[in-house]
Amino acid sequence: MELSCDEMYLRYHGLLLPRETHSDESLEFAQEFKFEDDDVMAVTYPKSGTIWMQEILPLVLNGGDLTPIHTIPNWDRVPWLEEKRLALVVDKLASPRALVTHFPYNLMPPSFYTAKAKVIYVMRNPKDIMVSSYYFHQMAGFLEDPGTFDEFMDKFLEGEVLCGKWTDHMKSWRNSALGDRIMYITYEEMVQDLPASLRRISDFLGRNLTEEVIQKIAEHCSFKAMKTNNMSNFSLIPNVYMDSDKSPFLRKGTVGDWKNHFSSEQLARFISVISKELEGESFSLPWSLD
Ligand code: A3P
Repeated sequence: MELSCDEMYLRYHGLLLPRETHSDESLEFAQEFKFEDDDVMAVTYPKSGTIWMQEILPLVLNGGDLTPIHTIPNWDRVPWLEEKRLALVVDKLASPRALVTHFPYNLMPPSFYTAKAKVIYVMRNPKDIMVSSYYFHQMAGFLEDPGTFDEFMDKFLEGEVLCGKWTDHMKSWRNSALGDRIMYITYEEMVQDLPASLRRISDFLGRNLTEEVIQKIAEHCSFKAMKTNNMSNFSLIPNVYMDSDKSPFLRKGTVGDWKNHFSSEQLARFISVISKELEGESFSLPWSLD
């Protein structure tokens, strides 16, 4: 039987978070989490390249040693700050620690603001995020059924989906007062030239990786390699939670799939809502919305 929205999600400061992976305790644990200065945080709105960063960060930080990506599932290798698993694996994390979060800036724990931990914020064109999220809501047993694509668009634009509105997330991190602690990168940039993106990430994290190591990391973090890595493709998760027959988690890994899904009316609606919500912001988007 289908669970109701309340049975499926917690509401945390207005954000919908699945109960399967989050609890009051995990959210309290996140708020009390003590950041170290050498921690590295990848921040994403869902479907922007989170698991990609869970593959990249350990390799950049350890100089290309493949052991973690071949022996530890991504959710324990680079855990989510806000999810239940963190409390179970925090003591086992390799140093320097890498974490991910879908939290907006204002929900980060107090220790985050005073530590020097670096942040990589991955942005993706919201139209492709919405498409990716639509399929994710179909395959994930712990998320509400998305309904039709048109119905899902309304929910996405209202923020009645996993982690709230995309525009709120973007605004919070783009306007953060983190100065040179934060680096912005786009999913599109990573798809276009992964080695160049890895060089940027490695420089930002103060790692002087050789070209040989960069190429090795790029090879192991390609869509194709991740799709066959059982520690990264969620094949260890039972079908009731993630049903890859409905849609694989590593689905297409491309830029512009929205063109295969949006009608012209939907495109106009999407642009109108998003542009209105970003009106007056001092940052500009890395892609054109139309
Ligand atoms: P698609 O559904 O468009 O294929 P997240 O990890 O934040 O949930 O994001 C998932 C999206 O990132 C999916 O997008 C997935 O295929 C894509 N992705 C993950 N690893 C990737 C890689 N190595 N190259 C390209 N896309 C990748």
